Amino acid sequence: MMDVLVLELDEDYLSGESLAAKLGVSRVAVHKRIKKLRQEGYPVESGPLGYRFAPGAPAPRPLARRYRGGMLTNALYLGKVDSTQNVIRKLASAGAPEGSLVVAEAQDAGRGRRGRQWLSPSGGLYFSLLLRPQHPIAALPLVSLAAGAALARATGVGGLKWPNDLLDPDGRKLAGVLTEAELLGEEVRYLILGVGLNFEPPSLDTAAGLDEFGRQERVEVLSQFLAAFENLYMALPDAATVLEAWTEHDYTIGREVNISTPAGAARGVAAALESDGSLLIINARGKKHRVSAGEVELIGGFA
Ligand code: BTN
Repeated sequence: MMDVLVLELDEDYLSGESLAAKLGVSRVAVHKRIKKLRQEGYPVESGPLGYRFAPGAPAPRPLARRYRGGMLTNALYLGKVDSTQNVIRKLASAGAPEGSLVVAEAQDAGRGRRGRQWLSPSGGLYFSLLLRPQHPIAALPLVSLAAGAALARATGVGGLKWPNDLLDPDGRKLAGVLTEAELLGEEVRYLILGVGLNFEPPSLDTAAGLDEFGRQERVEVLSQFLAAFENLYMALPDAATVLEAWTEHDYTIGREVNISTPAGAARGVAAALESDGSLLIINARGKKHRVSAGEVELIGGFA
């Protein structure tokens, strides 16, 4: 599934000879495999000193050097895939442990929330993280908020539209999280957190790219995300740490919102984030709605 050469390549050049020795194959075989990796969509560069991944690529070696926490059990770095959610789902049903990570260079069927497409050209950050939480289903919204808060911390840009969209200071979307759960009755068999973060600005008025706010490396942002998320996830089921982290980056509370939920639509002021992670909306007649899942539209301009 993933050539072991992917585990060896780094951000600094390694000669064909040394890679050949490590893998126990000929230099010609290394050259052929490099060519194949490029065809699969990996950003492999070659020069007089050998081969390397483009600096900043979210590849295993560069990631292992930066992220030293305990969240990851195994990490796959793939070229172009349909969706990292599909790849990790297969691993999850085959028994992969919590902390399995699938990162892809690009996706041709990236999924967003509510059946939307997630444009995933090469150069962005697309990954899915497998969780096997021991908490009751009621705690799942907090996991989803934790992912949003970790994204905001990791990038240091913008703020959060409930539950976990990262918006830039103009209200354009930088990143989103797709949470897919596999339930068995009341038990959570596993949870997949899928994160998509734009780096180059997409050609959509409503979206932004992190590159617009200063150059950051994808692997560094991924590592920061894992560290921040780990911290919040470990604090569960106690909600306070997650709610506090989310509130630090909040762009939602106090604003007029439209919200569409499976039960219908509502308009009002987003009055508070509740302790279970739901959003309290108060409409013009003072009626309160507690929303635990839905799509928020922030009304009114951004400063
Ligand atoms: C959203 O609509 O805001 C959620 C977007 C989630 C996109 C990510 S990219 C990695 C993972 N694989 C997918 O197909 N979707 C998620």
